[in-house]
This record gives sequence, structure tokens and C-alpha cells, in this order.
Amino acid sequence: MKLFLLSLFCVWSHLDVDGFEVKLRKQSTIYVPYSYINGSAHYGLLTPTAEQTTYDYIDKVVYTVGGTLLHAIDVSNPDNMTIVAHVEMPGFDFTDVEVCGGHVFTAIDDKANRTNGRVIIYSAYNATSMSISEVLQIPVGAVPDMIKPTQDCSQLIVAVEGEAYENPPNQITDPEGLVVIINFPNTINSSYTKTSLDFTKYNDRVTELRPSGVRHVYQENGNPFSNDVEPEYVALNADETIAYVVLQENNAVATVDLVNQNITGVHGLGFKDWSKLTLDPSDKDRGAFQHPYSVMGMYLTDSAVYFRFKGVDYLLMANEGDAKDYKFGTYMWSEEENAGKLSESILPTLDATTRDQLTRDTLLGRLKVSVSPAGKNSSGNLEALYAFGGRSFSIRRTDDMSLVYDSGDDLARRLYVNNKDLFNGHLGDVTHRPFEDFDLRSRSKGVETEAVETGVVEGRTLLFVANERPGTIFVYSLDTDVMKPEFHDIYTGIPDTRTKSWQEMYDDRQLSEIDCEDIKFVAGDKSPTGKPVLFVTGSVTGTLSIINVDVTNPPPKPAKPASSAASLTSELTFAVVTATVVYLCGRM
Ligand SMILES: *[C@@H]1O[C@H](CO)[C@@H](O)[C@H](O)[C@H]1NC(C)=O
Ligand SMILES: *[C@@H]1O[C@H](CO)[C@@H](O)[C@H](O)[C@H]1NC(C)=O
Ligand SMILES: *[C@@H]1O[C@H](CO)[C@@H](O)[C@H](O)[C@H]1NC(C)=O
Ligand SMILES: *[C@@H]1O[C@H](CO)[C@@H](O)[C@H](O)[C@H]1NC(C)=O
Ligand SMILES: *[C@@H]1O[C@H](CO)[C@@H](O)[C@H](O)[C@H]1NC(C)=O
Ligand SMILES: *[C@@H]1O[C@H](CO)[C@@H](O)[C@H](O)[C@H]1NC(C)=O
Ligand SMILES: *[C@@H]1O[C@H](CO)[C@@H](O)[C@H](O)[C@H]1NC(C)=O
Repeated sequence: MKLFLLSLFCVWSHLDVDGFEVKLRKQSTIYVPYSYINGSAHYGLLTPTAEQTTYDYIDKVVYTVGGTLLHAIDVSNPDNMTIVAHVEMPGFDFTDVEVCGGHVFTAIDDKANRTNGRVIIYSAYNATSMSISEVLQIPVGAVPDMIKPTQDCSQLIVAVEGEAYENPPNQITDPEGLVVIINFPNTINSSYTKTSLDFTKYNDRVTELRPSGVRHVYQENGNPFSNDVEPEYVALNADETIAYVVLQENNAVATVDLVNQNITGVHGLGFKDWSKLTLDPSDKDRGAFQHPYSVMGMYLTDSAVYFRFKGVDYLLMANEGDAKDYKFGTYMWSEEENAGKLSESILPTLDATTRDQLTRDTLLGRLKVSVSPAGKNSSGNLEALYAFGGRSFSIRRTDDMSLVYDSGDDLARRLYVNNKDLFNGHLGDVTHRPFEDFDLRSRSKGVETEAVETGVVEGRTLLFVANERPGTIFVYSLDTDVMKPEFHDIYTGIPDTRTKSWQEMYDDRQLSEIDCEDIKFVAGDKSPTGKPVLFVTGSVTGTLSIINVDVTNPPPKPAKPASSAASLTSELTFAVVTATVVYLCGRM
């Protein structure tokens, strides 16, 4: 009880003492159809039609992609966003969209021939013809996942994930992961140059990279690292000379020299030690029981955004987690296993307490861990229990990818305090009410932090952290110290956790931001509201929302008059109390 009160007090005392506050508040939502086949728009829950998004502030048009569709949405009236055009590509899957200089760049996966992944470039929505017209297609390789244009739109960096797929029937093809750099020397036309960078030069360096946390996951049939590697996300430094390419399943970030067009490093992200934090590893414990465990978390970062703070370059990273799990007809291979199923011979060094916890489903028995060769030494023994995802966001220095800050167990703990019905929950069965799905993801990746974004409001750097399960956005700010993000607010698009089912809320158009895949910050001078906002896609709800970033920043207090003896005493008392609280909170 004492500990509980102290922790509440510590949460309270973390509230910013100078009164700077950020609240996230919804402005409006638009529901996006997943198909127009047969003449009319079709809507539905669990139809990933709004995955990624980008905002053209000049025309006040948002472009959103997901599934077979690219939509142009007029957001000039932020209370009544309106779909103005769409492009439908049956048999394809749009994976990303960016707008730059009057062009819309998309990445697309060709479902019929996966090697045929492309970048398709359109001209921006034309309000006169009310259409989006295609300009150019550029083949890039198997399963492109992200595109990032430079600010002058003359260069595109494409992460070609090369995710494995079924080909021929009942067999696996794991194509090369690539970083493709496309240069448009004059204008956006077919006179472009394209450089495809592969990872073959790292194939004989995996043993050397492994101690830093780099994973070579799928090694069957001699599959080399350069095919196992999965470029997922791209961030650029301030002068756009370096691309940081997140290799999610490989638990690494590649640095790419954009001037010499060369991959210059693969940096492992290391592991997170849950024995020094708290974790709920079970969906069968009927609660949010968070304790330290001898488990290593693999960060397996998904998205990462670059920012500069006090002259130093950082990446803000979403440690989602992702396992390689293949079911291609009769071909099956997975790195995932329930920790309770691991034999003693595979994990000989485990301590007795942890070994006992493995036998209990309410403790570690059902935690999903990796049994891929990436975590095994040359005798085939696992070196630890490796769980998927960091259940957190991190800040790393870009020069050496060293970890400056990790949110530890903060997201789960705060979510539990703020809205316990959503703790490690997810939308699985649409007939359930959200509270019934509480805790179901605890054995897997917890909140699954998926998208991150930064923004500067009134001189403060804000950090936005979106979590997939079931759908929350946390906002933090940096004041003076990059190692001390201050928590401000948790937003959710789930208004009712107790009386309505997921489907009922969706049908009543009350549900949004389930599985926030993408968040884009827009400053007040460019925003359709005139104030800072986020554009947020909800993949599972098929929604695009405008969320206000409401900042309260009281002016600094006037200087105090010269202190009397009495006020000196009270200031001393305050200092002693503060020091004690800081000491106790630091020990928690
Ligand atoms: C379009 O109509 C056909 C024939 O009625 C039906 O099979 C198909 O499912 C419909 N497609 C959609 C997206 O509703
Ligand atoms: C929203 O915009 C649409 C299209 O411009 C218009 O038909 C509709 O009346 C508007 N609704 C409201 C509430 O303003
Ligand atoms: C798939 O696409 C590639 C690249 O465009 C092409 O070379 C190949 O012939 C295609 N395969 C099939 C079966 O269409
Ligand atoms: C927009 O469409 C109109 C009508 O088709 C056309 O005249 C105009 O040139 C187009 N604008 C741009 C920028 O392409
Ligand atoms: C692309 O645009 C440039 C500059 O306008 C021009 O010189 C070049 O011929 C164009 N290329 C093609 C293939 O149209
Ligand atoms: C490419 O990067 C490697 C380091 O990975 C370096 O040894 C090599 O000199 C670079 N090549 C060029 C052309 O910059
Ligand atoms: C592999 O790990 C196991 C357990 O830690 C240990 O007993 C074994 O000696 C290790 N093998 C090698 C080659 O390091």
C-alpha cells in the first residue's frame, strides 16, 4: 500500500512543475472505404484501408493509402473532411505514401508477382479535373515498405523489405532486402537514376555483428543475411546526407551514405533486461501483474524519426517487435515458441526460479519467445529468453546508435493507471466489449508501440508515441534533458470500454485510431485548424483523424521578492521534501 501511494505520488510529481501541459483532443474523424467495386463505397472494421498518410499543406489535402486504395481527402474544413478522389489498384497493396512538390509518391506491393514491387508517382490532386493522374512507375524490388523523399523532392529513398512469400506453391522465397535510391536530376520524369544497395557485404560479418544484437533470423537452406534482412523504415538526418534504415526483424539500423550511395554500417540495437523492470508476460493471470523477470526484450524497432535536440542528432524509435513466422501452404517455419515449451537442454543456464516460472501459464509459461538461430550459440543453446518487442519507445544517438533513453515499463504502467480496461488489450473479436479483451496481448508484445513522431510547439520538443494494441497515443515533452522526457497525456479513440462492442462502436461511428500505424505532426502555421495537430491513421478502424495538440504554457512567474527568514525556512523545508521524493522515486 505504501509503495502504491508512493508510486502515485511519483507519477504526480513527474507532472511538469512549471505548468507546461500538452493534451491530445480529437477534432474529427473520417471513415475511409476499403473498396468501390460494384459501384459504391464499402466500409468495414478490420479492413486496413488507412495505413499511411501524408499532408499537402498548400492544397490542404491529405493522401492516405491502405490495401488497394489511395485516397485524396480535402481537410480544408477540419470539421468535415471529405474524400475528393481515389485510385484503386486491385491485386496490389499500397504500403506507403508521401507528398512532395506537387507529386504523390507511393510504394506498392504486387500481390500477383511479388518481385514486381514498385514506386508509383502521381501528380497531386487536381481540384479542377477532380482526379489524381499517374505520372511514372519505377520497379524497385520485392515488397517495398517505405519511401522517403528529400525536402527538394529530387531524391527518393525506398526501403525494400523483401519479406518472404510463398513461391512456388508450398515453398518459400525470401528475396533480398534492399535500400533503393532514386534520383531525379531535373524533374519527375523517366530520366531518373536508380541505385539498389544490398547487404551482401555483411553476409560474412554476422558473427562479428551479433554481440551488438543484430539478428540473422531465417537461416534455413543457407538463406544468407542479405536475404534475411528486412529494411522497414527510413529516417534522414538534417542535411539529408545520411539515411537511417531500420531493419526491424534483424533488431538493427543500417546507416546509408547518400552522397556516396553506400551502406556504411549495420548497428545492433541490443536487448532490454526485464529483470530490472516490470513486465506482465501472461494472458492467463487475470490481471495486470507486472514483475521483474529474467527475460531479455528484443527491441525490434518499427518506425524511427530523426530529431535534433540541443545540437545532438537522435532517433526516436517505436519498439514494436515482430517475429518471423511463415505458413506457406504446407511449408511452415516460425521462430516463435511458448517459453514453457522450451526444453532444459536448449536453455541449460536458466536459474531455478525462472525455470519454475516457465512451468506456470500465469507467469512465463505462455510468453512468446524466439527460438531462431539468431539467439543461439554455436552449440545450439539459447543464451536467454528472448521476448519480442521493447514495449517502449527509445531515444538513440545517431552517431553510434547508443541508447540514451528507453521508456522501460512506463507505457504499460501509465496505461493501467489511466485506463486499465485497455491494458495490453486488442481488437480481436469484434463482438467483444473492449474490457473483455484486457490483458490478451501480455504474452506477446504488450502495447506494441508502432508509430512515433516529433513536433516543436512553443520551443518545446514533443514526442508522440502511438501504440497498436488496442490504440493509444502518448505525448511526452523534452525540456532541458533528453534523458528525461516528461509525460503529459494519453489519448484513445475508444470512448466506451464497458457497454458497447467494438462493432457497435464502429457502426455508430464512435471508434477510431485502433492500430495507429502512422502519425504526422503539423505545426499551427500549416494546419487546417491554425493550431498544431496530428493526422492519425487507424488501420483496423480504417480511419483518418485530426487530433489537436493543445498546449498550455503559462508565462514564467515574476521574480520573487527578497526572501525573509520565514520564507527561507519554508523554502528549505520544500527543498528537503523535494530531495526526499526525488530520492525515493529514483529508487522505485
Ligand atoms: C461485387 O459483387 C460481386 C457479385 O455480386 C460479389 O461477389 C463481390 O463480393 C462484390 N464485391 C464487393 C467488394 O462487394
Ligand atoms: C461536408 O462536406 C460535404 C462535401 O463538401 C457536404 O456535402 C456536406 O454537406 C458537409 N457537411 C457538413 C456538416 O458541413
Ligand atoms: C515478375 O516480375 C518480374 C519483374 O518485373 C519479371 O521479370 C517476371 O517475369 C515476372 N514473373 C511473372 C511470373 O510474371
Ligand atoms: C487540372 O485539370 C485541368 C482540367 O483537366 C487542366 O486544365 C489543368 O491543366 C490541370 N492542372 C494541372 C496542374 O495539371
Ligand atoms: C525529363 O525532363 C528533363 C528536363 O525537363 C528533360 O531534359 C528530359 O528530356 C526529360 N526526359 C524525358 C524522358 O522526358
Ligand atoms: C562504402 O562503405 C564501406 C564501409 O561499409 C567503405 O569501406 C567503402 O570505402 C565505402 N565505399 C564508398 C564508395 O564510399
Ligand atoms: C552455449 O551456451 C551454453 C549455455 O550457456 C553453454 O553451456 C555452452 O558452453 C555454450 N557453447 C559455446 C560454444 O559457447
